[in-house]
Amino acid sequence: MSSKKKMLSGIKPTGLLHIGNYFGMMKQSVLLQDEFESTFFIPDYHALTTLHDPLMLKGFVKEVILGYLSVGLDPKKVLLFRQSDVQEHTELAWIFNCIMTVSYLSRGHAYKDAEAKGEEVTVGTFDYPMLMAADILLYDTDVVPVGQDQKQHVEFARDTAEKFNRLFGAAFKLPEARIMEEVATVPGIDGRKMSKSYNNYIPLFASREEIADKVMAIVTDSKGTRPENVYAIHRLLKDASALDPLYEENEGNYKALKEALVEDLDAFIAPMRERRKKLEVEYDIDGLLREGGERAQEIASAKMSDVRAKIGVR
Ligand code: ADP
Ligand code: TRP
Repeated sequence: MSSKKKMLSGIKPTGLLHIGNYFGMMKQSVLLQDEFESTFFIPDYHALTTLHDPLMLKGFVKEVILGYLSVGLDPKKVLLFRQSDVQEHTELAWIFNCIMTVSYLSRGHAYKDAEAKGEEVTVGTFDYPMLMAADILLYDTDVVPVGQDQKQHVEFARDTAEKFNRLFGAAFKLPEARIMEEVATVPGIDGRKMSKSYNNYIPLFASREEIADKVMAIVTDSKGTRPENVYAIHRLLKDASALDPLYEENEGNYKALKEALVEDLDAFIAPMRERRKKLEVEYDIDGLLREGGERAQEIASAKMSDVRAKIGVR
């Protein structure tokens, strides 16, 4: 058995990957893949809370798996699988539903935001953190690399583990979120959090033309000397010591600064874009998911035998 600590995370397959996903979650995952025993999965049942189109769902599952591989997660070292291949996740979520309370889950930011917007909130959206707790706890996870917006969800998983252990005996490890402070919340082209749902994102595998379109659409205001939204995205790619002279030289010349950002983004994205293009035609994604699903299922099934025995079901 490996003595390494365990890392696990996932990205919902609900759209194109963007550079906020990369800097917030994927970059640290790639850097840590040797230090931890690592698992990355695709939470397709989580996507079902917002996406009700089977073909699109399948397409975005492929987008996320190709994304994991193209940014450098190594399938020889890392366990990669799809949530819906391992039924234990939904089974454990039900068990958690029966120990955590409505008032506790009502504190969820995602749920409260949806309520505040007057949306019709599904039970799945309300219950999302319990399925996520199952994802994390089934695999004895120590750390969960995520962006800031997922911090509360990991805390929910931790509280759920504590409560289960208290009621039924020790079954679960207590996980912790791992957040990179400088990129905890990557801003989008309008200055708000970059997100699929705000349509303010720069796709992680954008072509040069798409990059240029997005960068030219970055909202600039004429307050201050620097176009802050341009600078903030630029800072993801370069240190202040490299950028500040450029921004001073080109003060007021937003076009030149945006062109410099297009150049730097394209240089950063191009190798991953090329790798993705190759993998898309060459890689046996179905085979990878099949094998990964089988391995994940073995781990999850051993954990569930213990859980079922502890709660008194078959
Ligand atoms: P989105 O908000 O675009 O729907 P997801 O919820 O699918 O993104 O997020 C997948 C992962 O990427 C999570 O770990 C999340 O915290 C991280 N992430 C998403 N957007 C950002 C961002 N703007 N800054 C930092 N991390 C982010
Ligand atoms: N909630 C995460 C997101 O929106 C996706 C997710 C589901 C996840 N289960 C997880 C992340 C378990 C980390 C660990 O991106």
